Amino acid sequence: MKALVYHGPGQKAWEDKPMPQVIDDTDAIVRVDAVTICGTDLHILKGDVPEVTDGRILGHEAVGTVESVGTGVKRVKVGDRVLVSCISACGSCRFCREARYGQCLGGGGWILGHTIDGTQAEFVRVPFADTSTYLAPDGVSDEALLMLADILPTGWEVGVLNGQVRPGDVVAVVGAGPIGLAAIMGARMFSPSHIVAIDLADSRLDAAKQFGADVTVNNGREDPAAAIAALTDGLGADVTIEAVGTPATFELAAALVRPGGHVANIGVHGEPATLHLEQLWIKDVTITTGLVDTSSTPTLLRLLGGSQLDAARFVTHHFTLDQFEEAYDVFARAGETGALKVVLTRT
Ligand SMILES: NC(=O)c1ccc[n+]([C@@H]2O[C@H](COP(=O)([O-])OP(=O)(O)OC[C@H]3O[C@@H](n4cnc5c(N)ncnc54)[C@H](O)[C@@H]3O)[C@@H](O)[C@H]2O)c1
Ligand SMILES: [Zn+2]
Ligand SMILES: [Zn+2]
Repeated sequence: MKALVYHGPGQKAWEDKPMPQVIDDTDAIVRVDAVTICGTDLHILKGDVPEVTDGRILGHEAVGTVESVGTGVKRVKVGDRVLVSCISACGSCRFCREARYGQCLGGGGWILGHTIDGTQAEFVRVPFADTSTYLAPDGVSDEALLMLADILPTGWEVGVLNGQVRPGDVVAVVGAGPIGLAAIMGARMFSPSHIVAIDLADSRLDAAKQFGADVTVNNGREDPAAAIAALTDGLGADVTIEAVGTPATFELAAALVRPGGHVANIGVHGEPATLHLEQLWIKDVTITTGLVDTSSTPTLLRLLGGSQLDAARFVTHHFTLDQFEEAYDVFARAGETGALKVVLTRT
């Protein structure tokens, strides 16, 4: 089969790899029907994730058809159309019992395209298939469903739920990439009074408006603190969500929150950020961090099935699997191409 293989920083190729086989009896082999690229894959290609080694097939998001299953797989059957989640779950460790699948101690967590071969391939081995895949609801397109593999649960769990967004809140989202946009889409469901999107790229701020932000601030030329002060009698945002992953944007999110508010960090950080405790200690703020658990996937599937979640809106570009190199190029130059999510499908 063909797969997108990582060969060290800056190096990748769409090349031949052996067909994956069932190794553990809880595995399924899934034929990949639709797959996408994540900002985290770009981090890997920059060399920011050293656990990913030469020869690894990338990718942690897919929709596919079950090709074969191990003898221990009970729920998933050959021929099922499934969502392959970015987080795998053993289902029985301490953290899985608390639905904290991202922290799985039994061999799950973020493993696909990280510590084992991933989904950017014609076929993928999915460990713990019963607890790491979700049956596709009828009437939902592959590409809409694919948005539930990573970005929608991430924005929802790590941004909106950790940030405890409530009706009437002023929510500030720093970074309007796919993750920030997913947080905006999720925050809308709680009827905030205002959603302020903050980004350096006007194209991303335009997208933020389409996804439900009513105020946009380009922090390259405008002051987000002034914009939020104007909406909150100078108090600051009830909830700030960091969706970039740099020291400057974390510090901005922490500076924009009101006393008693919540700062929800989503960004993957590679460098230390300064926690201004000399300002924050007196403000009663709650700061949360998190890796997505995908524990919200069943909820999001119901919202999708009930047409309450416009997941397909994220998809800006379509390719076939053999166009992986081109798809990476378009996704990596999102500022110029306007890419949010690119979807690759079988021909
Ligand atoms: N915690 C998790 O489980 C989890 C899961 C998936 C992704 N992530 C992380 O979430 C972050 C966002 O992901 P994405 O795919 O949306 O990334 P992205 O790169 O597509 O988007 C980031 C956005 O931030 C903007 N930006 C950059 N610097 C800025 C600044 N100084 N001020 C304001 N805006 C700025 C960019 O213009 C861009 O629109 C990444 O760090 C990613 O690794 C975390
Ligand atoms: Zn991802
Ligand atoms: Zn587990």
